[in-house]
Amino acid sequence: MELRDGIRTTGAVRGFTDQAVDDEILQAILDDARFAPSGGNRQPWRVAVVQDANTRVKLGEAMKPVWDEYVAISATGQTPFTVVDAAPYQLASVTPGNVPNDLLDNIATVPVVLAVAADLGSIAMMDKDLDRATITGGASIYPFCWSVLLSARSRGLGGVITTFASRVEPTTGALLNLPDNWALAATIFLGYPIKQTTKLTRRPVESFTTVNTFDGLPFR
Ligand SMILES: Cc1cc2nc3c(=O)[nH]c(=O)nc-3n(C[C@H](O)[C@H](O)[C@H](O)COP(=O)(O)O)c2cc1C
Repeated sequence: MELRDGIRTTGAVRGFTDQAVDDEILQAILDDARFAPSGGNRQPWRVAVVQDANTRVKLGEAMKPVWDEYVAISATGQTPFTVVDAAPYQLASVTPGNVPNDLLDNIATVPVVLAVAADLGSIAMMDKDLDRATITGGASIYPFCWSVLLSARSRGLGGVITTFASRVEPTTGALLNLPDNWALAATIFLGYPIKQTTKLTRRPVESFTTVNTFDGLPFR
């Protein structure tokens, strides 16, 4: 597959066939992803290939309330878990299990579940002293996660990056023996897609690109 095609057509896949993913293929995907960039080339990632069904179910149970909360906050019109001007919302309005989640409901049988952890001791958190939430640290781990998805796509697989587990890291981290000073960055689900959406809905360049400054003229 052409690199550009891969970049432009790798959509989120949340439904998988029963076909198992061979360990050699998963190994090859991770072997591609390890070429991702990271700050100082410190490669601060570790991956747990979560195979144990019991651990998966417990992870799913821990993550499901996060999904319920996500759905409930979304219903208020605000970005879930935003750190900017978050309006208060009633936790009581969260109806557990109201909206099914294919990934979490089927976590025991999803072909591949990867937990990706980041070594906070190896990440230069350039914005750590600013009076706002940090964001730069993720830049040393999410290119790796994205490369997992791109490599998977090039091999006929699909998947999705999720971050539910981070919100309940005391529970999910303990299930995975997350080392001290490491953070759970993502749970990646992979498998052979039931359906691969290739026409992705994304905003055009001129909607997010300006000249010189962020309030400049549109770049064309
Ligand atoms: C950092 C990140 C976190 C995400 N978290 C979740 C998640 O928790 N659950 C989920 O179903 N999808 C998650 N996604 C997938 C996005 O919803 C998806 O990439 C986006 O909606 C675009 O979908 P599309 O590629 O099918 O158009 C996440 C994606 C990223 C990059």
